Amino acid sequence: MKETIEKLLSEVAAFTPSTKEELEAFRIDFLANKGKIKALFADFKNVPNEQKKDVGQLINTLKEKAQSKVDDFKAKLSSSVETSEESIDLTRTATPSKIGSRHPISIVRNEIINIFSRIGFTVSEGPEVEDDWHNFTALNFPPEHPARDMQDTFFVESEEGEMALRTHTSSVQVRIMENQKPPIRTLSPGRVYRNEAISARAHCFFHQVEGLYIAENVSFADLKQTLMYFAKEMFGEKTQIRLRPSYFPFTEPSAEMDVSCSVCDSKGCNVCKYTGFLEIMGCGMVDPNVLENCGIDSKKYTGFAFGMGVERIAMLKYKVNDLRLYSEGDVRFLDQFKSAF
Ligand code: PHE
Repeated sequence: MKETIEKLLSEVAAFTPSTKEELEAFRIDFLANKGKIKALFADFKNVPNEQKKDVGQLINTLKEKAQSKVDDFKAKLSSSVETSEESIDLTRTATPSKIGSRHPISIVRNEIINIFSRIGFTVSEGPEVEDDWHNFTALNFPPEHPARDMQDTFFVESEEGEMALRTHTSSVQVRIMENQKPPIRTLSPGRVYRNEAISARAHCFFHQVEGLYIAENVSFADLKQTLMYFAKEMFGEKTQIRLRPSYFPFTEPSAEMDVSCSVCDSKGCNVCKYTGFLEIMGCGMVDPNVLENCGIDSKKYTGFAFGMGVERIAMLKYKVNDLRLYSEGDVRFLDQFKSAF
C-alpha cells in the first residue's frame, strides 16, 4: 500500500494542469467521494497495526498535497483567464456616458445678452423679492393705480413688511438709475413672477430681459434702430419690425414691437394667427417722472427702455408650443437642444 501511495504522491507532485477542465478531472480523480484518496482510507482497515501510523500519515500528506494543488491552480487559472489578452477586447467601443445640455431659456437669454453686448450694453441683476418702491411706485405706478392690476402680483411677508415677487425686471433698472449716473446702457435679465393660471400660454413665473439706455439726446429713433438691429440679429436679416402704440406707466410714448413671422415668411400661418407678425416686446421712452424718481435730471437726459419674455422668444425660435415644457425638466425635451449652443 505504501508504494501505491508513494506513486500517487509523485503523480500529484508532477501534475501541472493548463486548463480548468484538467484541474477538475484531477480533483474528481483524487479528492471526490469516489476518488482515490477516499478508497485509500477505506482500505486503511486492512493495514497491519504496526504500519498504521506511517501509512495514515502518508495518506494524510497525499490528501493535503492534492488539495493544495487544486487550490493553487484554481486561483492561478481563474486569474490568468481574466487578464489574458483574449478576455479583454480593447477595441470595443466604450458605453457612452450621457452629457447634459444647456437649457433653452439659458441659450436664448445668452444670445439676447450677446447681441446687445455688441452695441455696448452691460448686464445688471437685482433681487427677485422686491419692495413696492422698486417694482411699482418708482415706475410711476402710484398706490391704488389701476395699472397695478395689469400685473397679477404675488406678495410675501418678510421682516421688512409686505414684499412683492417682482413682476418684471424693470425693478432692476430703477436700482441702476438710483445708483449710477448717465450714460447708462444696461440689460436686466432674470426671473419674474405673476399670479396666472398655468397653461400652454401662461405660467406663474417666466424670464425677462429688459434693456435701458439713458443719455443726452436719446430719441425714439434710437430705440427703433436698436430694436431693429436686435430683431435682425435674433431672427435673421430679412426680419421686419412693426411698432404699435401701447401703454406702460413708466414709458411715454409706449409701444409694442412685432417681428415678421419667420415660420411663414409673413404669408400668414397659425403661429402668427394669419397676421404675418408676432408680438415680442414692450418698449418706450422712459417717462420723465421715472427719471426724477430715481434722481436723474429729466431736462438733461432722456432714455428708452424695452422688455421681452425669454420664453416667448425661445418659443418662436424653436417652435415650442407649450410654455410648461420649459420648467418640467423632461430630458426628452431638453436633449433636443444639445447642439444649440
Ligand atoms: N416691464 C414691461 C413688462 O414687464 C415691459 C417693458 C419694459 C415695457 C420696458 C416698456 C419698457 O411687461
